Amino acid sequence: MSAKAAAIAVDCGELPLGGGLLALLRPALNELEPGGMLAVLSRATSVREDLASWCRAERHEYLGVETIDGGIDRHLIARGEFSVANQTSYESQLKPREGKLTASDVLDVAPLPLTADPYTGFAPRGARVEPGGPAYPFTLNERDHAAPPEVAKLYDQAVSGQWDATRDIPWDEVKPLPFPLAQALAQIMTFLAENELSALYVPARFIPRIHPVYAEVAMFLASQLADEARHIDVFLKRARLCGVGLGTSSVTTSRSLLSLMQTEDFTESSFLLSVLGEGTFLDLLSFIERYAPDEPTGELMRRAKNDESRHVHFGLAHVRYGLANDPNLYGRLEAAVRRRAAALHGVGGVPAPVQDALTILAAGSAEPEAVARGHEAFRELLETMHASRIRRLQHAGFTAEQAETISELHTPNFM
Ligand SMILES: [Fe+2]
Ligand SMILES: [Fe+2]
Repeated sequence: MSAKAAAIAVDCGELPLGGGLLALLRPALNELEPGGMLAVLSRATSVREDLASWCRAERHEYLGVETIDGGIDRHLIARGEFSVANQTSYESQLKPREGKLTASDVLDVAPLPLTADPYTGFAPRGARVEPGGPAYPFTLNERDHAAPPEVAKLYDQAVSGQWDATRDIPWDEVKPLPFPLAQALAQIMTFLAENELSALYVPARFIPRIHPVYAEVAMFLASQLADEARHIDVFLKRARLCGVGLGTSSVTTSRSLLSLMQTEDFTESSFLLSVLGEGTFLDLLSFIERYAPDEPTGELMRRAKNDESRHVHFGLAHVRYGLANDPNLYGRLEAAVRRRAAALHGVGGVPAPVQDALTILAAGSAEPEAVARGHEAFRELLETMHASRIRRLQHAGFTAEQAETISELHTPNFM
């Protein structure tokens, strides 16, 4: 037996097996590949019997003992095939840069694997996983369909971009507005909040489907949910400060948002919600900011737009990455837009209460001449939205022709 060389030796002194020896023994075994040998040095005679039975129970192979210099027992163990999975390669050590640790730094030492194993469950990426656990029902198990590499950077931006809907808007600077403007603003805020509610519920459905080995995606979506919750909060507060009650929810909006919620594929949903819907909302929020009747309204539009642009970026990264890895995705995404357009057949244009409210907001009053200007501004807004969608779609990888078709088919509800 003495001819056999162990890869590692642990000195366990006088520790009995049930008195701490395992805390030295087990981690040492975990360092070995199955079949690898460990030498256990011990001065406790009880270990002679206990170690052999422990090895039998734990399915390691006990190879025997010899007494070496100083009366020390040298036990030899071969690591079993079915014991705790060992880590084949160690991650390099995480190190702060200029006092900071970002999710992107973590990604550098623990990269996202191409595919995920359902048997690793909620084990953090990089953890050793004991064999024999249950399979988890995650359905987003492929990096190329769920986890664009930009996700860590966007998560870092989201964390540092959080703001407080209670204190960060100078609410006490809101002054009473003339009735037509108050009514228009309350209507616009009601419409925004209704759409924001869908933007909270739709991505939330996908979090439980994402394999935890791509946790950064779930963490980014969690930050997006916090953003949407804040948007619902600020838009409804601003609506209620108008003092005329909330506005109308239209059937067009309701049908449009239901079709969004019924999209079952993560990439299709991200495309419809973030690239097309939230992308179009960026122009809408800019429009409201431009014609905001007071500073607090302008401020909350700027802040919401900042958050939305992160959501659009994630959607774009997700879709662009998917398109680069799956040439069939173009056709699927266009088909998703067509299906949705068919489901919305006959709903007409932009919901009338929203169209009227945006016109009055841009007019700044109900004077006919001002309303003519407001009407023109609203018409220009629709053109701007169409042009931005085409630009964004081409940026994602669609041809000019595809982009034009998809943008034309986009819901008149904007989201
Ligand atoms: Fe939002
Ligand atoms: Fe959003």
